[in-house]
Amino acid sequence: MAELQAAGDMEAIKAVQVRYLGRKGQLTQFLRNIAALSEAERPAAGKAANEVKQFLEGKISEALEQLSAGQADQGSAIDVTLPGRPAVYGSLHPISQINRQIMDIFIRLGFDIVEGPEVETDWYNFEALNFPKNHPARDMQDTFFVSSDIVLRTHTSPLQVRIMEKQPPPVSIIAPGRVYRCDSDITHTPMFHQVEGLLVNEGVSFGDLKGILTAFVHQMFDAHTSLRFRPSFFPFTEPSAEVDILCVMCRGKGCRVCSQTGWLEVLGAGMVHPAVFENVHYDTAKYTGFAFGMGVERIAMLKYGIDDLRRFFENDLRFLRQF
Ligand code: DAH
Repeated sequence: MAELQAAGDMEAIKAVQVRYLGRKGQLTQFLRNIAALSEAERPAAGKAANEVKQFLEGKISEALEQLSAGQADQGSAIDVTLPGRPAVYGSLHPISQINRQIMDIFIRLGFDIVEGPEVETDWYNFEALNFPKNHPARDMQDTFFVSSDIVLRTHTSPLQVRIMEKQPPPVSIIAPGRVYRCDSDITHTPMFHQVEGLLVNEGVSFGDLKGILTAFVHQMFDAHTSLRFRPSFFPFTEPSAEVDILCVMCRGKGCRVCSQTGWLEVLGAGMVHPAVFENVHYDTAKYTGFAFGMGVERIAMLKYGIDDLRRFFENDLRFLRQF
């Protein structure tokens, strides 16, 4: 027992085991020699030797168990003083962030959010929006055709028709979504995001359009960002306008971003064309409305000072982590 207690590791315990219980161990020897004893001595000697053997075997396996339990303890020990590894957080894509900011502003102004299909029929994408077949304005849209009658929507304006078809006035909706055009360079990607707006009621005027868009720009950028309306053409609005904001980079002085004009184009807008109302059976004598459409990437580029549209779609973490 003294030898066993002094044995500090597995090897030492095994050595004790071999010394007494091994093939040539002392106890083994003793057991073999019992046969040489006299018949009177044999039973007592055999009994005693077996008892010692069992006792020793028990003590040795106990010692081995204790040793391995101690090793397991050491293995699972936790050093609570070690510094932790920082968690890596994801974040919303800058386009999603700007989209949410735009939605938030229009929700506060009382607009509802609606969505529609990205694969669209010729009727909703063009015809119902007063783009007749062979109208030159169709050309400007660089359309991806699925078939002669089905396209990838080139703008979010089809939502105007889809909503008015389903719902009588008053209508005030905002429609965010992906749109597609067969175009690709520094300022164009084949897929990009737009937000469409539509408000229809009795007595809606161009002044209401200016008021809503001014409120939007002042919240999206700041209250010093003035707006400028330029006459333009869209088949589904009359009159139509393109809306510029004071250059967010140079504040109107003229710089590379605004091509020295001091202004940046951010929106298309106008009063809903009576032909569109007729297509959805709205009473053109009773109702008027305005519509507008904007590019989300364009707003994001101006807001964050990003000069290459393609950055948004390269998924470079060094870029994305900055937002
Ligand atoms: N759908 C137009 C485009 O993608 C943008 C637009 C212009 C939308 C005028 C409108 C609008 O609602 O009134 O070029």
